[in-house]
Amino acid sequence: MPKVNFIDTKDELVTADADIELSLLESSHKKNIMPKVNFIDTKGELSTVDAKIGLSLLEIGHGNSIDIEGACGGSLACSTCHVIVAEKDFNKLEKASEDEEDMLDLAFDLQKTSRLCCQIIMTDKLDGITVTLPKATRNILLED
Ligand code: FES
Repeated sequence: MPKVNFIDTKDELVTADADIELSLLESSHKKNIMPKVNFIDTKGELSTVDAKIGLSLLEIGHGNSIDIEGACGGSLACSTCHVIVAEKDFNKLEKASEDEEDMLDLAFDLQKTSRLCCQIIMTDKLDGITVTLPKATRNILLED
């Protein structure tokens, strides 16, 4: 079986089997090189968790008992999933949609790197992203 060498985010070498049917991304995932997300809670405590590609940061947070409300379940009808993205990571994100910007305007403690974490979809590029939960959220759930 051919091999692929990956250097992970800690500069450690990981050698994975490179099945010719799999992409490099799939090979890395098979070898359990899981990207990470850092959540800093309202008390300033850091939790580093595995972050499956394709899930939103809200889903990743909920799957790891991170205390993010997410009242509308990610349908852009509240701002209770507001997080403040570390400046080093903010430019790695896709630009916020107009709908997200509108909801962010309702968020408590809005900052220039604020985002709604239900709209941040995990990619390899975001490995190591750090987000901080605001001290409070404002729940103005818009219902039909
Ligand atoms: S969970 Fe409601 S906008 Fe993100």
